[in-house]
Amino acid sequence: MPPLTSWLVLPILVLLAAPATTPPARASPVASSFDGQREFDYFKLALQWPGTYCKRTRSCCPTNGCCRGSNSPAVFTIHGLWPDYNDGSWPSCCSGSSFDPKEISTLTNALEQYWPSLSCSKPSLCHGGKGTFWAHEWEKHGTCSYPVFRNEYDYFLTVLNVYFKYNITSVLNDAGYVPSNTEKYPLGGIISAIENAFHASPQIVCSKDSIEELYLCFYKNFQPRDCALGSDIKIDMVTSKKSCPKYVSLPESVSVGYNGLQSRVSDDVAL
Ligand SMILES: *[C@@H]1O[C@H](CO)[C@@H](O)[C@H](O)[C@H]1NC(C)=O
Repeated sequence: MPPLTSWLVLPILVLLAAPATTPPARASPVASSFDGQREFDYFKLALQWPGTYCKRTRSCCPTNGCCRGSNSPAVFTIHGLWPDYNDGSWPSCCSGSSFDPKEISTLTNALEQYWPSLSCSKPSLCHGGKGTFWAHEWEKHGTCSYPVFRNEYDYFLTVLNVYFKYNITSVLNDAGYVPSNTEKYPLGGIISAIENAFHASPQIVCSKDSIEELYLCFYKNFQPRDCALGSDIKIDMVTSKKSCPKYVSLPESVSVGYNGLQSRVSDDVAL
């Protein structure tokens, strides 16, 4: 683990040691809502696989993590932490306040490394216009994590800590699922490796036969849980199977730099 994690891990341990966040008994239907939104049921930690995303790189810009040459990420990186409902829907854009980069300035280095945007396109914000990847994730999803998180800083710090604690890249590597442009791996084997490590079922999203995203799900106290519960589970298994074939690949990260872009583009065209 990089030295950076030692000071980051401490706050989450304190947080995790706190009693499970059982919402207070509802005095009225609005007692646990925030800006009129019903309180969410669970968290989904969405991770992205750079080897799949970065193949699509068509242009480079300073914020595109795919464009860092040999420093481009070769591990699962963070997409976001999404509050979800058990019925498969989710709340979004839950507060009127906008993203403030100053609130998380002390986390910027860590976020650039572990939570990079993997394209140059600017996602839309909740109150009009477009912004950074982080602004989009906070406004669209983070604001709906109330009452677990009441501010931006807590949200981003906790996402980093949960990501450090549940290292999917290392679980897959240890099970022999290493990045490769030639190997195909059984989807069931990948799911089992994660279930064995964390005692909860993930959800996997593919682009053709390449793993593109992987979701890990958590209760509100950050204990792992299945990404689908009870009657939802059948739907969810269908979803994973619909998205991914039986054998999937985990493509190696391409090393795109400002200089390398030209040749990358021609490689892509050749495909
Ligand atoms: C996760 O595991 C991988 C592979 O062992 C390692 O390279 C990486 O640094 C780990 N990530 C974190 C955030 O600890």
